[in-house]
Amino acid sequence: MKKYTEIKDISNLSETIKEAISLKKNPHEFETLGKHKTILLLFFNSSLRTRLSTEKAARNLGLEVMILNVNDAWNLEFEDGTIMNANTSEHIKEAAGVLSQYADIIAVRAFPSLTDKEKDQSEWVLSSFEKYATVPIINMESAMAHPLQALADAITISEFANTPKPKVVLSWAPHPKALPQAVANSFVEMMQLLDVDFSITHPEGYELDPEITKKTSINYNQEEALQDADFVYVKNWSSYSDYGKILSQDKHWMMTQKKLGTAKFMHCLPVRRNVVVEDAVLDGTNSLVLQQANNRTFAAQVVLKQILEEL
Ligand code: CP
Repeated sequence: MKKYTEIKDISNLSETIKEAISLKKNPHEFETLGKHKTILLLFFNSSLRTRLSTEKAARNLGLEVMILNVNDAWNLEFEDGTIMNANTSEHIKEAAGVLSQYADIIAVRAFPSLTDKEKDQSEWVLSSFEKYATVPIINMESAMAHPLQALADAITISEFANTPKPKVVLSWAPHPKALPQAVANSFVEMMQLLDVDFSITHPEGYELDPEITKKTSINYNQEEALQDADFVYVKNWSSYSDYGKILSQDKHWMMTQKKLGTAKFMHCLPVRRNVVVEDAVLDGTNSLVLQQANNRTFAAQVVLKQILEEL
């Protein structure tokens, strides 16, 4: 693997999922693969799971880990030809060039603005690192995608599926803040690659990018959509068409134990209890949220292993 900025970078998904499950059984099998190599984790935004699971995965492979909260460094300029006489002190061209001398792999987390759709869609931060860094780039959640999360979700579904073609439903849920579409986008793309019966349910106005959802079934009736589901993946996202706006906070869309029935519950975390999902679901035996978070390590580890093998 040359980089992991999008799900398409995985050349063989089923083999990669198997390899991740194998790494989970024996996490230190390749503990010298990354010896004398360094990964740099760059955070433009907060993180708990991504930061620690990627660090753990890297250490399992013998990599040195450096972490930088970018807001502690110089303000970066991303535009070409700017007269830098205002708030930005360092251009991405120099920054990415410098960082590429310090690290063999650079991983980046940079959320969208949710105000400038065109700019967010261009993945201006992630794509600038891809353009100006000379080492492989990993997406730790960008404006429009969270491919490491989606890989962990695919691993989790593979582990817990009881039928050859499980029914998987992505259900929107209310949230007091405007959140990105990144997790939902990558989950949709991942489900389209797996042998699952996949559909999406959300209120009208919350349609994701049609270039991502393609022919995936969308049902505006949550109760109907959830019938006979094996896995229910709950996530809030802000409107894509009315970009970044909160159109509804209808609490009837919160996931409850009654609606979930016997289905397994999934969420990427962090999650707001009794807003997105009621306590009974998270505290119940059908919740897979901790297993998903655990699989973040092995999703990151299999990606790092495949990148290290090509360095
Ligand atoms: N799911 C996820 O990416 O968690 P963090 O935001 O805590 O990294």
